[in-house]
Amino acid sequence: MEIQKLKEIDRIFRQHGIEAEDTFKVISAYYLNVHKPSNISKLLQNLWMEGNSILDKASNDNIAKQTLEYTVAFDYYGECLPIIYQYFLGKRFRDLSGKFFTPRNLARLMTKMLPVKPDVIIMDPTCGGGTFLIEASKRWTNNSCTLVGNDIDKMLVALSETMTLLNKQPNHTITFFNDNIYDITSNQKHLFGKVDYILANPPFSLPIESFKVSSNLYKLGYRNSDALFIDLCWNYLKPGGHLVCLLPHSIITNKEYEKLRLEIERIWEIAAVIVLPEGVFNSTSNTTTRADIVFLRKQTDVKNVSNIVFANISDIKHLAYDVNMFIDQYSELSSIVSDFDIEHKRN
Ligand SMILES: C[S@@+](CC[C@H](N)C(=O)[O-])C[C@H]1O[C@@H](n2cnc3c(N)ncnc32)[C@H](O)[C@@H]1O
Repeated sequence: MEIQKLKEIDRIFRQHGIEAEDTFKVISAYYLNVHKPSNISKLLQNLWMEGNSILDKASNDNIAKQTLEYTVAFDYYGECLPIIYQYFLGKRFRDLSGKFFTPRNLARLMTKMLPVKPDVIIMDPTCGGGTFLIEASKRWTNNSCTLVGNDIDKMLVALSETMTLLNKQPNHTITFFNDNIYDITSNQKHLFGKVDYILANPPFSLPIESFKVSSNLYKLGYRNSDALFIDLCWNYLKPGGHLVCLLPHSIITNKEYEKLRLEIERIWEIAAVIVLPEGVFNSTSNTTTRADIVFLRKQTDVKNVSNIVFANISDIKHLAYDVNMFIDQYSELSSIVSDFDIEHKRN
């Protein structure tokens, strides 16, 4: 969606005293009015009602009504909703650090690393705009699955739920939480040891004072959001469960993370580490953060001896231009990575 279009929507609703977050609520509510999803969470139900009651202020304005109609007609499945969110809640988005959406092509690529099988639980504990959950739903088109999302930000939980409702297959179940993952409440702990796959882009480099989950990394002195996220995922996953996530490049390279890397080798099987070039987030934010894809499997009782793929993708174009070259099966990872083949090592 072009910036001009967003400015125009902003102008139209401002005339009725509807601004920023409220405009986003109105647009989201309108999508829900059109799609009329059932079985929605209380949180989304409340925001839907709130959006409609704000919309009442512009109920006599045909241009406002037509604008909403065109917006939904132009983008029926709401792919632009995260862009609209970023436009109308941009300040809040930037101010609360740790937030940038994963570009869709990167999320799709990471999702393709997961082997498809029926009846799995797929989770994104910091789901933001829901990109990973939607990509997972697309990949699981012919299979049933449960999609679980969580975010600390209420509006983002609502956005993810809306996006998932608009895009998911009928045989996919969804559950959303609005929790701080570093201070998990009991309503999520029942998922510990049950999740098959986690796809995520956690908040990077936020200081975490206390962590209410059993964590060796915390005991080793690590207090940053990305490091502790690895232990959190270990708790969520069942043995053999997969974690495919983005982590700061420093975790892979810096000396201060040496103990962390040893701890990972002790309790995980490392499937792949794919070093990404600078600028992978350019399409969704102006962050210069460097991130890598880390693909881990929670160890089972039987130690699996398998290859580890290390790849270094030096050019963003390689990432963008053909996601389809990427894997269908974990076991095929190496051949896919060699398509990106800038530097390819195996142990
Ligand atoms: C880098 S963004 C990624 C969002 C989304 N997964 C995506 O890929 O587009 C990180 C997300 O983590 C959320 N977040 C930050 N701190 C959190 C916390 N303590 N608990 C749960 N979510 C958190 C932010 O609101 C944000 O949506």
